Amino acid sequence: MQRIFCLSVLFGTLLSAYSAVQQEDHAPYLAYLRSHFNPCVGVLIRENWVLAPAHCYLPNLKVMLGNFKIRVRDGTEQIISPINIIRYWNYSDSYPQDDLMLIKLSKPANFSHKVQPLDLATSNVRPGTICLLSGLDWSQDNNGRHPDLRQNLEAPVMSDKECQKTEQGKSHRNSLCVKFVKVFSRIFGEVAVATVVCKNKLQGIEVGHFMGGDVGIYTNVYKYISWIDSVTKKQ
Ligand SMILES: *[C@@H]1O[C@H](CO)[C@@H](O)[C@H](O)[C@H]1NC(C)=O
Ligand SMILES: *[C@@H]1O[C@H](CO)[C@@H](O)[C@H](O)[C@H]1NC(C)=O
Repeated sequence: MQRIFCLSVLFGTLLSAYSAVQQEDHAPYLAYLRSHFNPCVGVLIRENWVLAPAHCYLPNLKVMLGNFKIRVRDGTEQIISPINIIRYWNYSDSYPQDDLMLIKLSKPANFSHKVQPLDLATSNVRPGTICLLSGLDWSQDNNGRHPDLRQNLEAPVMSDKECQKTEQGKSHRNSLCVKFVKVFSRIFGEVAVATVVCKNKLQGIEVGHFMGGDVGIYTNVYKYISWIDSVTKKQ
């Protein structure tokens, strides 16, 4: 009895010590899309282009890069207005697929250790591959509307067959599914698990209407590479 008690006290102490440490993970490609509506996350793919879900097409959108913490400024903060937003031509609110848009920035981002573009996928990712889910979370002392902490966690990619058997995956096309094995400490929403990065390449971007459970559905970026290339080269 005594021993169990001691162990649980020790474990509790370890847990609270762990949760008190709020480390910012390295995800310099994440762009926060600030608007008056829901928080959204995009990915910097070129110095003047951000790839994001099309449901993040919101009024008064501003693209924020670099440090997101309000109390600690480090000079990496950049707030840039979009000059053009191009939604995937087949995008419609009634279909969860093709939920992609490209945001052209009015001026190029300045790169630093906190602001770096991410390479796009060059092939489909193999099922079972362990990838990095990157997103934003609220740090413990932040009660504001905007998340301020970059967070990463690892998760394996599922096969199409396995995904289509799940409630969340069965109505999707051009999707990439991952199995969540561990959740973020604070919230578990779309913003927190916005992108799938495998071997340092962008493979997936969050689909709207996160439905919970232990499966995450993402737009398979590789299927849209030719569209992304043609838009970003033309403009
Ligand atoms: C456009 O969306 C519809 C409905 O989801 C789908 O049937 C069609 O294949 C899509 N076309 C392209 C080129 O993505
Ligand atoms: C990048 O740095 C230059 C020179 O300091 C500055 O004029 C420009 O506004 C910066 N760009 C952004 C997006 O903050």
